[in-house]
Amino acid sequence: MRVPAKVNLQLAVGPRREDGFHDLVNVFHAVSLFDEVTVREAPPRQPNPSGAGESASSGADTGVSVTAADPPEASACAGLTAGGGLGSHLARVPLDESNLAARAVALLAERTGRGSPVTVHLDKHIPVAGGMAGGSADAAAALLACDRLWGCDLPPRTLAGYAADLGSDVPFALMGATAVGMGRGEILRPLAAPGRLRWVFALSPHGLSTASVFGEYDRLRPDAPEPRLDPALATALAGGDPAALGAALTNDLQEAALSLLPELERTLKTGSGAGALGALVSGSGPTCAFLVGGVDEAEADGREAAVVAELEGSGLCEQVVSAYGDVPGATVL
Ligand code: C5P
Repeated sequence: MRVPAKVNLQLAVGPRREDGFHDLVNVFHAVSLFDEVTVREAPPRQPNPSGAGESASSGADTGVSVTAADPPEASACAGLTAGGGLGSHLARVPLDESNLAARAVALLAERTGRGSPVTVHLDKHIPVAGGMAGGSADAAAALLACDRLWGCDLPPRTLAGYAADLGSDVPFALMGATAVGMGRGEILRPLAAPGRLRWVFALSPHGLSTASVFGEYDRLRPDAPEPRLDPALATALAGGDPAALGAALTNDLQEAALSLLPELERTLKTGSGAGALGALVSGSGPTCAFLVGGVDEAEADGREAAVVAELEGSGLCEQVVSAYGDVPGATVL
């Protein structure tokens, strides 16, 4: 399975709800940083001495392994210490049943009564704890892979419901392209986004926990208004106008992410100063995203190269990666 990262074009966050989540207007955009997720039947295990039957897989008997290869369009920043890059982030990926991909396997087995023990291998290209929904992407891929492997062939709507039970960003990883998410982000409506966009991402050596960024948001914005889709963003997106879109990018979580990691402000300024059409923290951060134009013009006018070069030279980020969007959601290879 191949499954993309996301960046948020708008992330409007309402007040904290009674269930602890926040109502969002979350404009998701899938980009060409892909994790590859391989699900296989696990080798047969020794018979259970208790004699109890065992048919369904559970998170506990899902073996998770992980590797990382730097994306093809990645380059190291000045000042990067040896052993950096995505490989150094792997320690943050849990290999037990708490991994969201293992939880996806367990949830599908429980809901369908099918399943057999499997192994899940994650070949990571999406930053870990980077605000690009890498864990959600892996869960979406594991869900779809087991659906096929076990012959469930559930309708997309049912799979999307299971995905929503796993996490707010998981349904979008199944859907891909560009969509607005409402509720806690799981109620999706596709948005037309004509013309591919070119992006540069600055990866941080640090991770940020989504829950702690939302907690900081509550502290900074106790009186947050109800979230609304920004009409300027919707118009720019529908019109395929990268400059207008760049000017309309917003993220209500950015202030909270900057409060937790103040150095991100300098990263954003570096990319903007080099000519990016728009700059923002991706989701709950700490990855910073820079829109550099339509897919044809960004390379031709040198804007992308200038942004990459300035970020690489800044010593502020761990890695700089170029990508385009939008791209499809989780896909069987
Ligand atoms: O849904 P997910 O498990 O990805 O959310 C992770 C954490 O992010 C939640 O536990 C919650 O603290 C926060 N969150 C939120 N409101 C949302 C989505 C996530 O407060 N709409």
